[in-house]
Amino acid sequence: MRKKIAAGNWKMNKTPKEAAALAEMLKPKMANDKAEVIFCVPYVDLMPVIDTVKGSNILVGAENLYFEDKGAYTGEISAPMLKEMGVNCVIIGHSERREYFNETDETVNKKIFKALEYGLMPIFCCGESLAEREDNITIERIRIQIKRGMKGLSAEQAKQVVIAYEPIWAIGTGKVATSEQAQEVCKAIRDVLAEIYGSETADEISILYGGSVNGGNAEELFKMPDIDGGLVGGASLKEDFEKIVKAF
Ligand code: PGA
Repeated sequence: MRKKIAAGNWKMNKTPKEAAALAEMLKPKMANDKAEVIFCVPYVDLMPVIDTVKGSNILVGAENLYFEDKGAYTGEISAPMLKEMGVNCVIIGHSERREYFNETDETVNKKIFKALEYGLMPIFCCGESLAEREDNITIERIRIQIKRGMKGLSAEQAKQVVIAYEPIWAIGTGKVATSEQAQEVCKAIRDVLAEIYGSETADEISILYGGSVNGGNAEELFKMPDIDGGLVGGASLKEDFEKIVKAF
C-alpha cells in the first residue's frame, strides 16, 4: 500500500526563530495515523524545526540539495550534510527552482539519484505551464518530465520516490485544479510509471497534488484514486494545515 502524505513547502519564509515558533504551534495539531506529515523548510530552519518536532510524527525535509557530495560549489548544500542533520526528505525540481534557478530535467535526475544514495526521500515535482495546458500538451509535457527525471532509476529506487504534480498556473494563485483535472494528470503519471516499471511498482509510488491546496479543497482532491496527498505551500504556514492533514 502506498503512503498518504501531507507535505508543507514553506518556501523562503520564516527566520529560524519564526520557524521554531510555527513548528511548535502546528506540532500538537499534526497527530495522524492515516498519513505522513512532512515540513519542508529553508536550510537555516532545518535545525530549529528538527529540534522542535522531536518525538512527534512530523518528518522534516529540505527544499533542495546539490548533486555532488562536496567540493567547490559555493553556496550549495549536499545530501550528506542534510542526512547528518537528521533530515528525512527533500523537494527536488520545484517549478520555482526550474524557473528562477535554471533547474532542468537533467539536474533534477542527478539530484534524485543523490538523494536516494543518502536515504533521503525525494519529492520530485513536475507540472505544466498555463500555455502548455492551453495548447493541450499537458500530458506530453508531464510524461517527458517523468521519463527524464527518473531516467536510469531501478524499480526499487523508483518506489522510494514521491511524485508531486503541481500545475504551475495553480501555484500560489488561489486557482486550484479541479479534482478531475488533478486526477487526470496523476493517473497519466501512474500510467507512464507503469509503462517503465510495470503496474505493481507504479501502484506503490505515492503521487501528490500541489497548487493552492487548502483546508476547504483538500478532502475533495485526496479522495481521487490516484492522488495520495498534497504538497502545500501557502496553507502549510497557517493553522489551516491541520484541516489538510486531517483530510484523508
Ligand atoms: P501553494 O504552493 O500551495 O502556495 O500554491 C504549492 C507549492 O508550490 O508547492
